[in-house]
Amino acid sequence: MKTIVITGVTRGCGRALAEEFIRPGHTILGCGRSEKELAALQRQFGAPHDFSAVDVSDDAAVAAWAGRLLKSHGPPDLLINNAGLINRNAPLWQISAREFSSVVNANLKGPANLIRHFAPEMVKRRSGVIVNFSSGWGRSTSAEVAPYCATKWAIEGLTRALAQELPAGMAAIPLNPGIINTDMLRSCFGGSAEGYPSPQEWAKVAAPFILKLGAAENGCPLTVPVRGAND
Ligand SMILES: NC(=O)c1ccc[n+]([C@@H]2O[C@H](COP(=O)([O-])OP(=O)(O)OC[C@H]3O[C@@H](n4cnc5c(N)ncnc54)[C@H](OP(=O)(O)O)[C@@H]3O)[C@@H](O)[C@H]2O)c1
Repeated sequence: MKTIVITGVTRGCGRALAEEFIRPGHTILGCGRSEKELAALQRQFGAPHDFSAVDVSDDAAVAAWAGRLLKSHGPPDLLINNAGLINRNAPLWQISAREFSSVVNANLKGPANLIRHFAPEMVKRRSGVIVNFSSGWGRSTSAEVAPYCATKWAIEGLTRALAQELPAGMAAIPLNPGIINTDMLRSCFGGSAEGYPSPQEWAKVAAPFILKLGAAENGCPLTVPVRGAND
C-alpha cells in the first residue's frame, strides 16, 4: 500500500482520486483551502489519512505541513500536484495583475513548493513518483485562457527538467488528466461541461493509471485514457 500526498482534495478530480485511492487501502495526505471540507474528510476517513488546510502557493505553510507529515508518515511513494485554478474566461489584456498572479501562484509555484519540501526525502530514499497535473492546454492553446495555458505549458517544462534531475528509479511526470466535469470545467466550458465524465467516473480510470506509473515513464508527458481526453 502506498502513502500518497495529493493537493486539492476538497473538490473535483483531487477529491474523487483521494476516495478512489482510499478504497483499496492507500494512505492519503491531502490538502486544500476549504477548512470545512477538510474537516469533513478527516471525520469521514480518520487516521492514518490526514487532511489539512494548506494553500499550496504559501511556501512557509507547505514547509510546515511537509515537515509534520514527513515525521509522521515518512516520504510519500506518490506526490500528486493536482490543485489548480483557472482564470475567468477573458482576453489576456482584461486579466488583472492580481488574477494573473493567483493562477501562477497556485498552478506553477504551488507544485514547486510541494517539490521543494517533499522531494528531498524522496530523493534521499531514491524512490517515489511525482505527478504534476498539466492539461490539454499545457500542449495546445485557446482564446480567453492565456494565464492558465501559460502555467500548464510551464508545468510541462518544469516537470521534464525535474525528471532529468532525479536519481534513477524515481519519476516526474506531467499528466494531462483529460476533460472532466468539475467546477473548473464549468467555469471555462459553461453548459457543455455536462457532456464530460464526472470526477468519480474519471477517477475509476485515473487512479489505477497513476498507481502504475514508475521510472519507465520518467519525463514522459502522459494523458489519462478517458473519453474526450484527445478532443
Ligand atoms: N477538469 C478538467 O477538465 C481539467 C482538464 C485539464 C486539467 N485539469 C487540471 O486538473 C486539476 C484539478 O482540476 P479540477 O477540475 O478538479 O478543479 P476544481 O474542481 O476547481 O478543484 C480544484 C481543487 O484545487 C484546490 N485548490 C485550488 N487552489 C488551491 C491552493 N492555492 N491551495 C490548495 N488547494 C487549492 C481546490 O480546493 P480549495 O478551493 O479548497 O482550495 C480544489 O480542491 C487542476 O490542476 C486542473 O488544472 C482539469
